[in-house]
Amino acid sequence: MTGIYFSGTGNTRHCIEKFIQEYSTATAVKPLVPIVAIEESASAAKALRDAQDVIILAYPIYYSNLPKIMRDFIVTNKDMWKGKKVYILCTMGLFSGDGAGVAARLLKKYGASVMGGLHLIMPDSICDVKVLKFSPERNRQILAKAGRKLEKAARRMAEGVPTREGLGFFSHLAGLLGQRLWFYHKTLHYSSQLKINAETCIHCGRCVSLCPMHNLSLDESTITAHGSCTMCYRCISQCPGKAITLIGKKVN
Ligand SMILES: Cc1cc2nc3c(=O)[nH]c(=O)nc-3n(C[C@H](O)[C@H](O)[C@H](O)COP(=O)(O)O)c2cc1C
Ligand code: SF4
Ligand code: SF4
Repeated sequence: MTGIYFSGTGNTRHCIEKFIQEYSTATAVKPLVPIVAIEESASAAKALRDAQDVIILAYPIYYSNLPKIMRDFIVTNKDMWKGKKVYILCTMGLFSGDGAGVAARLLKKYGASVMGGLHLIMPDSICDVKVLKFSPERNRQILAKAGRKLEKAARRMAEGVPTREGLGFFSHLAGLLGQRLWFYHKTLHYSSQLKINAETCIHCGRCVSLCPMHNLSLDESTITAHGSCTMCYRCISQCPGKAITLIGKKVN
């Protein structure tokens, strides 16, 4: 098994690591599993090329679609998917319809065989908008529920009957009509909408080193965003000055 993922704020990384750990418990084998983030593009491409067994491909859902960085990873490496067996794991704040289906259709086009899909509700990562923000206790419950679902899905994979969430016709319809039709343009290109508040920025450079897209630079005392933001919310959620926003106006 090989794990390849993108995670902006950590939910997806947590879930893919837990899935592989639970799978290893269920099969009573301790496999040497590479789990690679796609932002390490060379290592991720190598992991994809070398994968002999199932690939767990994991990503968060943005507007019922793939993050642009994940779509680009799949497309850039299109020649390497032929004959690969892929299980798709998606995390989301509430709903995606066919979150797993969007990658599945692309992967099938490139010759991969999609074994199944899994949708996991996790805390919402859009930290500059108040909607869907819960108490720590409620977030713990969400996490515990996702953990139980991961455990069950890993057991099913070990038994040879993987879950198939988000892959059917009705899921496709739900994803398309529920969101993608209206918001498709949001994930079509990288974003240039990131805003940095010069008054609250303390010039620590943290955002520059965190960004998976190398979208930010620090010049003397100015942070500049260069228009290749994949909207992952990593810099926004970790900025000590709460100086960065994207969709909303204030970091909660
Ligand atoms: C730009 C953006 C768009 C999102 N769109 C959706 C969505 O359409 N449906 C949903 O349920 N969650 C949505 N979310 C929430 C994330 O999918 C969810 O919090 C995910 O677990 C974040 O994973 P990560 O921590 O690995 O980045 C969105 C988050 C972002 C940043
Ligand atoms: S992380 Fe925040 S405070 Fe630090 S340089 Fe970036 S914007 Fe400024
Ligand atoms: S600029 Fe921030 S939100 Fe955009 S891709 Fe980089 S870390 Fe993510």
